Amino acid sequence: STILVLHGPNLNMLGTREPEVYGHETLNDIDNRLLRQAAERGHHLLHLQSNAEYELIERLHEARAEGVDFIIINPAAFTHTSVALRDAILATGIPFIEVHLSNVHAREAFRHHSYFSDIAVGVICGLGSQGYDLALQAAIKRINN
Ligand code: DQA
Repeated sequence: STILVLHGPNLNMLGTREPEVYGHETLNDIDNRLLRQAAERGHHLLHLQSNAEYELIERLHEARAEGVDFIIINPAAFTHTSVALRDAILATGIPFIEVHLSNVHAREAFRHHSYFSDIAVGVICGLGSQGYDLALQAAIKRINN
């Protein structure tokens, strides 16, 4: 089956962006690890990072047509702002896990609300890039059941 990993704005800067908050790994490091883990378990993984809301929305529309089975998404700052991205993911009808590298609840008040958490299968935050690995593990378990 097919799993789509979506990364929102500024996550292309991982590795150099506020490393004390987001860690030293690059997005490439993370994506490559996920690709390997998915392949090892016999699944197909697709990934996209975009700084543009419309690109993420259009990728979600395509995901529906492509028959993507599960989505792992870190909407980044769009988490706290984007009704449009929420509506797009609802329109796919595809189950998803929301991931954040940092513990958004331990940060500024404006990061405490998410437009995605109430419609997500689950939410992982504060565990750094391991959150993606755990999300992938959970996604595969759900797909296989
Ligand atoms: C983030 C948390 C968001 O509040 C922030 O805007 C990001 C990254 C995280 O992964 O911790 O860009 O989603």
